[in-house]
Amino acid sequence: MILVPRASPKDGTFLKTLAGERSNPPPLWLMRQAGRYLPEYRDLRAKAGSFLDLCYAPRLAAEVTLQPIRRFGFDAAILFSDILVVPHGLGQTLWFAEGEGPRLTPVTTPADFARLSESFDPAKLGAVLETVERVRTALPPETALIGFCGAPWTVATYMIAGRGTPDQAPALALAASDLALFQLIIDRLVKVSTDYLVAQLEAGADAVQIFDSWAGALTSDEALYRRWCLDPIRRMTEGVRRAVPRARIIGFPKGSGRFYSLFAAEAGVDAVGLDQHLALDEARALQASRPVQGNLDPKVLLAGGEALDHAVDMILAALSTGPHIFNLGHGILPQTPIAHVEQLVGRVRGTHGAG
Ligand code: CP3
Repeated sequence: MILVPRASPKDGTFLKTLAGERSNPPPLWLMRQAGRYLPEYRDLRAKAGSFLDLCYAPRLAAEVTLQPIRRFGFDAAILFSDILVVPHGLGQTLWFAEGEGPRLTPVTTPADFARLSESFDPAKLGAVLETVERVRTALPPETALIGFCGAPWTVATYMIAGRGTPDQAPALALAASDLALFQLIIDRLVKVSTDYLVAQLEAGADAVQIFDSWAGALTSDEALYRRWCLDPIRRMTEGVRRAVPRARIIGFPKGSGRFYSLFAAEAGVDAVGLDQHLALDEARALQASRPVQGNLDPKVLLAGGEALDHAVDMILAALSTGPHIFNLGHGILPQTPIAHVEQLVGRVRGTHGAG
């Protein structure tokens, strides 16, 4: 039984909604809201050098976190960092190939695993926590700060393949060929990621989100989904709540499809993040058990125009009777025009295009 903490009167609409209250209009933030679609991000990123340098430079990372809040007044800021700082903090080599995405030296043998540390490098962890502190101090009190990490399964897919893959085949293959090693990797990630979220909450994050971006690769069979998506996340939510009983936790098991309701029932999260593939009647059914977050298609935001207004209206109409945090179904695309984000904010808040 999870004791869900009640909202406090000081909370803004984001935290109230996470506690199960309904707000009209709903609170709003966007996954990847700090990033390349913003000219002020591109400027600062060019000055910082590499993306990873930016992640570990507290003053600059805090500034980037705040940029979308200043521009759009979102109800929540999300820490500027990356899910891959966790393997990096365990000593795995990581770099971001310009225009191509992350590259890591793959962990595929017991010897590779033995080279990883048991806990997060204190210098890197310290830099992230200083960013959290700086952002919390700078934010308006009613704007929530979201910390985050990747779910063990999703982070393991990058650690094992050494890069993003379309089907997560290398990780699935290792789970099949060397179950013991795969389980060790997952267990290490459960432990380190739990400690990491606790540290973010203690440094000032108001809530945390667990990104399981590749949960969809596990949906061919319930046992697979339970073992590598649901169980590791449930162990994390239990561990985080043991250390921080008031913790607010959002789970984003992207692509979970028919397993979304199982996740909502058993993962121990306060709210469930929905991708754009989940039908709105199913999203609404989930709201009976938990607040939901999502689920506008990032391609619709990119397209803009009437299609954007229509999609926003459909989501608001379907989900306004229960607790809902407006968001995308996945991260904002770098080519998205700023005017479309302004249109979205106006439409959600009822200040744009009525009639
Ligand atoms: O604004 C925010 O949402 C906070 C910051 C954030 C980033 N990455 C910044 C980033 C968050 C929450 C993430 C999560 C993340 N990172 C995920 C889970 C969510 C998802 O998108 O599925 C994953 C899988 C990663 C790993 C990752 N980081 C990839 C695959 C890439 C390359 C693809 C890309 O979009 O470039 C990154 C790089 C990255 N992470 C950038 C940003 C702003 C772009 C780096 C740059 O400026 O060049």
